Amino acid sequence: MGKAPGPARVFRRPMNQLTILGALSIFSFLFLASHLFTEPRYIALIHKRPEPRHAAATISRCNALKLQAGPPRDFHERSQSDRFVHGTKPVLIKRAKIWTGGKNGTEVIRGDVLLDKGLIKSVGNLHRGRLEAYGSDLVVVDAKDSWLTPGIVDIHSHLGDAPSPALDGAEDDNSEKETIQPWLRSLDGLNTHDASYPLSISGGITTSLILPGSANAIGGQAFVIKLRQTDERTPTSMLLEPPYNINNSFPNLNLPPRWRHMKHACGENPGSQYHDTRMDTNWAFREAYKKASDIKEKQDEYCSRILAGKWDGLGQFPEDLQWEALVDVVRGRVKVNVHCYEAVDLDAMVRLTNEFKFPIAAFHHASEAYLVPDLLKKAYGGTPAVALFATNSRYKREAYRSSEFAPRILARHGLKVLLKSDHPVSNSRYLLYEAQQAYYYGLPYNLALASVTSNAAEVMGMGHRIGYVKEGWDADLVIWDSHPLALGATPSQVFIDGIPQLHSAHVVRKPDSFQNLPKVPDFDEEAAEAVKYEGLPPLAPRRSTAGVTVFTNVTSVYGRTPDAVEVLFTANGAPDLGVAVARNGSLMCSGTFADCLLSFDPPDVTYVDLEGGSISPGLVSFGSPLGLHHIEAEDSTNDGDVFDPLVKGVPKILGGDTHIVRAADGLLFGSRDAYLAYRAGVTSGITAPTHKNFYSGLGVSFSTGAAHKLEAGAITQEVTGVHVAVRHFSKPSVSTQIATLRRLLLGPQDGASGYWFKKVTEGEIPLVIEAHSADIIATLIILKKEVEAETGKTMTMTITGGAEAHILAKELAEARVGVILNPSRPFPYVWEDRRILPGPPLSRDSAIMKLKSAGVIVGIGCEEIWSARNLRFDVAWAAIEAGGRISMREALAIGSVNVQKLLGVEIPAEEEDLVVTRGGELLDVHSKVIGVLSPRQGTLQVLE
Ligand SMILES: *[C@@H]1O[C@H](CO)[C@@H](O)[C@H](O)[C@H]1NC(C)=O
Ligand SMILES: *[C@@H]1O[C@H](CO)[C@@H](O)[C@H](O)[C@H]1NC(C)=O
Ligand SMILES: *[C@@H]1O[C@H](CO)[C@@H](O)[C@H](O)[C@H]1NC(C)=O
Ligand SMILES: *[C@@H]1O[C@H](CO)[C@@H](O)[C@H](O)[C@H]1NC(C)=O
Repeated sequence: MGKAPGPARVFRRPMNQLTILGALSIFSFLFLASHLFTEPRYIALIHKRPEPRHAAATISRCNALKLQAGPPRDFHERSQSDRFVHGTKPVLIKRAKIWTGGKNGTEVIRGDVLLDKGLIKSVGNLHRGRLEAYGSDLVVVDAKDSWLTPGIVDIHSHLGDAPSPALDGAEDDNSEKETIQPWLRSLDGLNTHDASYPLSISGGITTSLILPGSANAIGGQAFVIKLRQTDERTPTSMLLEPPYNINNSFPNLNLPPRWRHMKHACGENPGSQYHDTRMDTNWAFREAYKKASDIKEKQDEYCSRILAGKWDGLGQFPEDLQWEALVDVVRGRVKVNVHCYEAVDLDAMVRLTNEFKFPIAAFHHASEAYLVPDLLKKAYGGTPAVALFATNSRYKREAYRSSEFAPRILARHGLKVLLKSDHPVSNSRYLLYEAQQAYYYGLPYNLALASVTSNAAEVMGMGHRIGYVKEGWDADLVIWDSHPLALGATPSQVFIDGIPQLHSAHVVRKPDSFQNLPKVPDFDEEAAEAVKYEGLPPLAPRRSTAGVTVFTNVTSVYGRTPDAVEVLFTANGAPDLGVAVARNGSLMCSGTFADCLLSFDPPDVTYVDLEGGSISPGLVSFGSPLGLHHIEAEDSTNDGDVFDPLVKGVPKILGGDTHIVRAADGLLFGSRDAYLAYRAGVTSGITAPTHKNFYSGLGVSFSTGAAHKLEAGAITQEVTGVHVAVRHFSKPSVSTQIATLRRLLLGPQDGASGYWFKKVTEGEIPLVIEAHSADIIATLIILKKEVEAETGKTMTMTITGGAEAHILAKELAEARVGVILNPSRPFPYVWEDRRILPGPPLSRDSAIMKLKSAGVIVGIGCEEIWSARNLRFDVAWAAIEAGGRISMREALAIGSVNVQKLLGVEIPAEEEDLVVTRGGELLDVHSKVIGVLSPRQGTLQVLE
């Protein structure tokens, strides 16, 4: 709390018991003072006593210190939201399947929802009479039996403080001044022009907690915002229940204070810029908390004297503007959100809470929380929630032991699990996808939905008004085009404060089955192993079998041709009829029992029931340093960056400026991300040498399942294509990068690079260029024509990244330039990718669909090494979003053969791995990859 409130306000408020006591003591004191202490020796004392109205203010301020933070008791008597925008029409949403958030996330009501005055006025069956009162003002929305949920709530976002597209002038989420700064406020950096607001809303996000970054031990105060535009166009007007401290205008000191929020961080991040060790950071915490505790103690002492009527010798109320927020933390009035990964750091934080007696709302990232649930239960003031990514892991040492099974394990131990975006680290538009993945790996569905709605709201201290579909709660709702836990669930409408946010949503038609909660596989054993092996369960294929395997109950079998994926067999709804026969890792036959004329000697045959599963070509990862990195942030675990002759001279011993490097020479096998990709059906990777600027080198195609380079089939193609990048943030200028490329293609082709660039101009291998901006891509199309005119040969050029490629869909098709979109669902990270095609519900076509329908060959990439495992879901998403315009066969091609073709991989189709799934097809969330047929190794690699 800051300076004392103005007296006028104090006297208007109703009195509670404590203030009455306080007032009584003043009045009796004044009575005594005027009647008894008239002798001169008392005068000095009386002199120190404040005037009555100041005394009353101090007393009520002291009393206010005892109030618990939270909504006032009569909060739900409100008939209008404090965020109601005049002129907003009442809305009746009819015929919805309403997931309310009630009953531990299991309550579903079929019926209507009435919104008015920014609030949910009624849920379920409405009385007609009630509606008639609204007359023609009432807007009626027929949900046609769609799912309806509360708006999605993001407990960890930097939206606005780290705005997109990222520009140097607007990075406001980390201060570099000192490590302890409880006085900073994320509100002060909240940019209202972040391109993410409408994008995130289109994914159903309605509320986010905007945290300062993690570069400081105490990064500052966080604020809850609603994402919609406001008439005032200001950051302040976006705040949800702003604490009165933001401008020290306390309307009523008898009201409980509103929740405040604060960010802490432990471990690697806060240390990095100050060269602090963990020991330094923890001392900094203790020193800060000691200071805050001392102030709190002085205040309490001061107040206990005042409330006992002992004003003598008291000076000013003890306070300090820099520390007041941390004092509120030790008063239990602040939701403290702590970025904290490893057991060592969680342990230190739990100790700190007990030393200084303050509660923690949530540990964020918390990669090892699932290994130490009992430690978290020892935190002072209650067990903190745990806010996680679903599968974004292993990017640094602290995250190396994280597990996709952490949400289910923590939930079993009774901890509250939240999924969060850390936007723009992950695009909060897809926060619900995080919950879907957690559900896939075993978090119960009710908790998965609660993790991004009701539970997130509760942990923010906002559960009294958001996170539920309940009468009296804020009118923040999402109507979905499928069950919210079905992959690709997309809003058809989003309401914030009762105001519809999507104007002309493009709604995708989906099969009826998407309206049901998807079935998911059993991962009990894997989850138990994650704990048993402290986050590092063995991932290499443990068993391989040669000989004959007969797969039964097969739904479908897809195979490869050099150019496409083909359907070899589909059971068309009679799964027990399908079989597939493999011998020594090669598919021999698929079809009915009769088709495959099964006549093997029984002892040689292994039968495997696929329970409606499938066999399909292995997917291919490209776009991250998969195969060259183990832990992104740890140089000592990675191949490293190549020299860039455009930036500085290259040692002669290497061949100087005409050197060129093969990624094959730097391959590292057996990384956890490679194995996890393999286990998710991504059986090969194509990787180019890692680089920061223009020059990369020669790509390689390798098996993600191999243990070392000398294993059969570990390297599937030594050299695939020549890779470069033309980007605005690379140095020197874009025009210089293009000029260099022109020279490499048309100038003297000498040395090693000349040899390979000659192959490019001859059309023997592709030139693969990472480019995002439509301007750069257009320039490259012109350059291709220029080169071809000169050489008379056709060269193969592939664009990767391609955020703005959709703008040139027709031109790319004409120039026969293919595109690997990476990320597959684009986001305007930087200026050169700002003109994305966002896809449904904001545009009918996704970028993939737009390019594909223009005739461009499209593949999709993986941004980071951990995300290779999600390729199957990204491919599935592309097909779902296309609303039936991309077949299963085409979708599989987008994630496999198209990528290979565009990058120069030429492997005989019969040598390609095939992926065996149980319970569904590779692109279904019902299925689990249980094996890989590897013709090169001559075995079936068993993955269960
Ligand atoms: C809520 O649901 C979870 C998962 O279904 C269950 O484990 C837990 O016991 C439930 N909690 C309550 C209070 O019913
Ligand atoms: C203080 O901030 C609150 C919340 O934004 C606002 O409603 C109030 O009008 C402000 N008061 C003053 C005196 O600026
Ligand atoms: C299959 O592999 C086994 C052992 O690896 C070998 O003995 C056998 O000849 C192979 N069969 C065929 C048809 O290649
Ligand atoms: C096919 O699946 C059904 C149902 O799961 C099972 O009862 C049957 O035994 C399976 N058939 C074969 C040949 O595995």
